[in-house]
Amino acid sequence: MKLAVLISGRGSNLQALIDACAKDEFPAEIALVLSNKADAQGLHRAAQGGIATAVLKHTDYANREAFDRAMSERLEEAGVDLICLAGFMRLLSDGFVKRWRDKVINIHPSLLPAFKGLHVHERAVEAGVRFSGCTVHVVRPAMDEGPIIAQAVVPVLQNDTADDLAARILIQEHRIYPMAVRLIAEGRLRIGAERAIVDAPEP
Ligand code: GRF
Repeated sequence: MKLAVLISGRGSNLQALIDACAKDEFPAEIALVLSNKADAQGLHRAAQGGIATAVLKHTDYANREAFDRAMSERLEEAGVDLICLAGFMRLLSDGFVKRWRDKVINIHPSLLPAFKGLHVHERAVEAGVRFSGCTVHVVRPAMDEGPIIAQAVVPVLQNDTADDLAARILIQEHRIYPMAVRLIAEGRLRIGAERAIVDAPEP
């Protein structure tokens, strides 16, 4: 299965996917890393892994739809089957999500549907929740919504700062993102309108 990974910055989840794809038995490869920022650190990670990169600056386009159309063209050219958002800080237009329905997945650093949006860890610490975590989900037009593919839970400790919590969750992100891609690449995920169901592995 051919992946595209869309990034805007650090790219540590991209790195986790690069590392997973480097393993012989992993059923996917990264065909393209696309960034909307020319200075995204993740672009260096891709180059180091010998992966094709593209930079499309959203500021070069008249509106979101035009930017998304340009992305779609680039993704089609690369022949990708699955688009992994990994710290990609742009909202996607309905047109894009429709064009790639059930083929775009995202990782979010909370236990969705709790704490959608930005400043997730600050908000979790402030709310005094005892557990948080991360979610990989299928992308639907509304932000941070869509069928859940995988989640991991971590404790929130009494004296945690937002950074402490972010670091604890990030370790789990790097574990479950490749796991979610594997489920899809192995054809083990049935995606419905609201929910996704994982089929048991072949005995
Ligand atoms: C991660 O915490 C991810 O869950 C969120 O943005 C952050 C991206 O980090 N969507 P990185 O660029 O993968 O290091």
